[in-house]
Amino acid sequence: GGIPVCCNINEFEKFAISALGEDVADYYQGGATSESTLNNNRKAYENLKLRPRVMRDVSNRDSSLTVLGKTYRSPVGISPTAMQKLAHCEGEIATARAAGAMDAIMILSLMSTVSLEEVRAHNPSTTLWMQMYIFKERDITLDMIRRAEKAGFSAIVLTMDTAVFGSRYRDIKNQFAMPPYLSLGNFRHMEQHHVDLKCLTGISDYINTQFDDSVNWNDVSWLVKSTKLPVICKGILTGEDANLCLEVGAQGIIVSNHGGRQLDQTPATIEALPEVVQAVGDSIEVYIDGGIRYGTDVFKAVGLGAKYVFIGRASLWGLAHSGSNGVAKVLQILHFEFDQTLALCGCTCADDITREMIVHRTYYED
Ligand code: FNR
Repeated sequence: GGIPVCCNINEFEKFAISALGEDVADYYQGGATSESTLNNNRKAYENLKLRPRVMRDVSNRDSSLTVLGKTYRSPVGISPTAMQKLAHCEGEIATARAAGAMDAIMILSLMSTVSLEEVRAHNPSTTLWMQMYIFKERDITLDMIRRAEKAGFSAIVLTMDTAVFGSRYRDIKNQFAMPPYLSLGNFRHMEQHHVDLKCLTGISDYINTQFDDSVNWNDVSWLVKSTKLPVICKGILTGEDANLCLEVGAQGIIVSNHGGRQLDQTPATIEALPEVVQAVGDSIEVYIDGGIRYGTDVFKAVGLGAKYVFIGRASLWGLAHSGSNGVAKVLQILHFEFDQTLALCGCTCADDITREMIVHRTYYED
């Protein structure tokens, strides 16, 4: 009996999949179309190997990372994932508590089941970034930005890989929908205006029809000018687009393929990272998400130029296991493994990780 102790992210995943309803497990775990991108995100990390240096004094280690001038103890932050109350009754409030306790950045999904104000009220000291989409009704976006500013969020993360929704065939097969006892916290006030109060799925339908597939770089410029907060562009996979992020005045880039849930058949994010870093150099900070399950993944990403890494599903597995404690444990495991990898590779901090320490598997066959 009781909840089993999980000592790595895979065990958290196995437990969560067995504990969640099949449709929720599929919604969290699944990807778009053939799930090639989803699987590739993991495979690509496995295809990179480490060249450790030994017998260097690593007694004084610092595994923190610095993002937009602020140093975080946890080298791993939390990517925005929708509807966290599907995993645990406290939902996003619990995730934010864990992020605060571990000193990690949390990006709140616009599609959260708790409003941004409530997440903040329960977590006054967590570093929160707000994920955003640009709606057809620009006022919806502007209003949300003002609310995030007022609630002390410290960045706006614009998700750019969602011009239309990817086909997640698992969800289509399961006819997955948000259960009626949940609601999208950030949109609750719109119920009176736009949709039947009793028909909560009506809100998500409404929001879906509000997604604007004409959105382009001019709108990103508009967004950057509309807020005092730094704007971070999420969903970049090419050097060309990375340069456009720079041009429109963004302050950061998250190399992401939405965890393989949007366009299928893209490179893994760890494969796309070098071209993005190469394109922008030090002019803008580059972060990454997708497939991170081990501290060695964090090490590889940082070695290839990421200033910070984010996890999506791994935090959901922790949340499903034991709420805030589970998310904290997931962050703690990745932190511990990263520190251990630093030590075993002869590094004392992120700056010590060199490109030469990371090689492609085929290196040995050349
Ligand atoms: C997501 N992701 C996502 N991204 C976003 O910008 N807004 C959102 O609301 C969501 N929602 C969401 C739900 C679920 C269930 C998942 C798994 C993912 C994508 C997310 O931010 C991130 O890019 C990926 O999850 C990273 O990949 P890993 O860490 O899950 O492999």
